[in-house]
Amino acid sequence: MTHPYKSVPVRSSEITPKEAYLSRRDFIKAAGFIAGSAALAACAPEVAENTGGTPAVDRPAFTDELGDVANTFEEITNYNNYYEFSTNKEAVASLAKNFNPSPWTLEVGGMVNNPQTFGIEDLLKLFPQEERIYRLRCVEAWSMVIPWNGFPLASLLKMVEPTSAAEYVRFETVYRPEEMKGQGSPFYPWPYQEGLRIDEAMNDLTLLATGLYGEMMPTQNGAPIRLVVPWKYGFKSIKSIVKIELTDQRPQTLWSTVAPNEYGFYANVNPNVDHPRWSQASERRIGELSRRETLMFNGYGEQVAALYDGMDLSLHY
Ligand code: MTE
Repeated sequence: MTHPYKSVPVRSSEITPKEAYLSRRDFIKAAGFIAGSAALAACAPEVAENTGGTPAVDRPAFTDELGDVANTFEEITNYNNYYEFSTNKEAVASLAKNFNPSPWTLEVGGMVNNPQTFGIEDLLKLFPQEERIYRLRCVEAWSMVIPWNGFPLASLLKMVEPTSAAEYVRFETVYRPEEMKGQGSPFYPWPYQEGLRIDEAMNDLTLLATGLYGEMMPTQNGAPIRLVVPWKYGFKSIKSIVKIELTDQRPQTLWSTVAPNEYGFYANVNPNVDHPRWSQASERRIGELSRRETLMFNGYGEQVAALYDGMDLSLHY
């Protein structure tokens, strides 16, 4: 059995070498976070690698559990789907430059015993940040391998204590039309919303990501906190979350409202069920020339297939 994912707890020996410290501190300052806390140091260990410094020699290679090599920081941060800014993937990075993710609060409520509102700095302190190297498969048939930093959504949900009536989790992106010009488009029901069944949300693979490649989350990738559900098409992995609500109703999602027959609620990666307008049998890994076969559940079947026992997956695009 392969490991479900490559998880690298951030060790103190990996804390940024002295010569890189200044650039990290500048980065944290630029992102509006308080410098100097242990949690921040732990989740931003290796800015040097991405700013032209010397890579640390004892760093494990950035490969996932299948041996796929991670995409570069440049690829991951310059080819983005983030409709709040633009529908042009190559334009998102520059349009998101001035988005300010600080201060930021995340409200967690609904059917829970212990509703709470967390500042982003609280979340970084409360939950140990892990590195998880996951494949991301977009419904548009391209993919990347991304080394995320973050913590399991389950840890946060346990803290607010869902009631026994809660069956689903609803997520909502920030609504700031002044900063996010794409939210002026009348074609989409803003704010962006997504949802999971509660057992999907509690699965250990489901991550709340706060950074990538050891840096605080770049704005174009969903700063300061976004969901990552690696066995589902990328649109489930909602960015820049301000609200999480436990509910007994299946949540409306932006994409299933716009085109229910094209972007269903489950959206599990499935090479055997084509999108109505294109095949899902193969994908283009960004940075590669030839296509590769798409894997059922994006290769995470051992961890998640049991969630769907008895369901006809061909009916659940
Ligand atoms: N979240 C919000 N709020 N808005 C979006 O447009 N796009 C989704 C998802 N989350 C999107 C979003 C899609 S289609 C994909 S493939 C991933 O984000 C892309 O994440 P990335 O840009 O970090 O690779």
